[in-house]
Amino acid sequence: MERLKDTTALITGAARGLGAQIAQRFAESGAFVFVNDLNIDAANDIAKKINGKALACDVADSSAVRAMFNEIAGTDRSLNILVNNAGISGMEGDDGARDRYLETMETDDSDSANHPPILDLSDKQWQKMLDVHMNGTFYCSREAVRLMTKPGSTNYRSSIINMGSIMGTFGRDGGTAYCSAKGGILAFTRSLAHELAPLNIRVNAIAPGFIDTDMVRPFEAIHPQLKAQTPLGRIGETDDIAWAAVYLASEEAKFVTGQTLSPNGGFYMSQ
Ligand SMILES: NC(=O)c1ccc[n+]([C@@H]2O[C@H](COP(=O)([O-])OP(=O)(O)OC[C@H]3O[C@@H](n4cnc5c(N)ncnc54)[C@H](O)[C@@H]3O)[C@@H](O)[C@H]2O)c1
Repeated sequence: MERLKDTTALITGAARGLGAQIAQRFAESGAFVFVNDLNIDAANDIAKKINGKALACDVADSSAVRAMFNEIAGTDRSLNILVNNAGISGMEGDDGARDRYLETMETDDSDSANHPPILDLSDKQWQKMLDVHMNGTFYCSREAVRLMTKPGSTNYRSSIINMGSIMGTFGRDGGTAYCSAKGGILAFTRSLAHELAPLNIRVNAIAPGFIDTDMVRPFEAIHPQLKAQTPLGRIGETDDIAWAAVYLASEEAKFVTGQTLSPNGGFYMSQ
């Protein structure tokens, strides 16, 4: 069944991981997909595989985002679906930060009480986290709404999907920046859903649990602990999120807006 037949989607951060799998399932479901990423070579590989088009751009850069949407506007396609997926853990290339995070997961609260991780969080790390997740989601959504509402546009099956996380409503030692950024995305989702409902543009979020991608692979040491805490007894697969995105973008979800869908194996039972 072509659940996204005749639609055009832009997925940010889609050169690998969750974004790449969402791109694959969207294409199989009938959508034409623009594959955004910082990494243009990997984005090109994905785009080639699914007959889409790669667009290089840093979503945290407002003018680069505008240029990317202008490029889409210059094609003969009308944008129906935006998936704001690009994201970072904040520990990329920083083994020290990763090790400190693992320590907070493996030790009891008293260790954290002696040296709260916030003391090691720099202005730069905090700002970068908000830039990519919150600013990126805002810049791309604003440009998408410009395209979706421009004269002549039908709003046919228009929808925005924002990638949150269970960390958006769940606190964790060492996670103040990431959790704040994801919490902000969930709040942004609800407000934008209100603004766009009169235009019949739906806005929803996905809040994944722990999913096996390059982002969480550095934390393999704690996978057994995470599995033990997950009622369904496993780490998630990229398809657990990709199918949620297909559903939210499809006509099956035409009465769904302002919601957070959280595939997490029962790790966290309420969003
Ligand atoms: N994997 C998980 O367990 C998990 C859980 C909850 C939420 N998430 C969220 O899902 C999203 C995807 O995560 P993933 O696990 O696939 O990560 P990933 O690291 O495997 O992929 C992220 C992609 O985003 C791209 N990217 C990063 N910064 C960018 C920028 N400024 N502009 C454009 N592209 C950029 C990267 O190049 C990469 O291709 C993220 O928002 C992440 O926070 C992941």
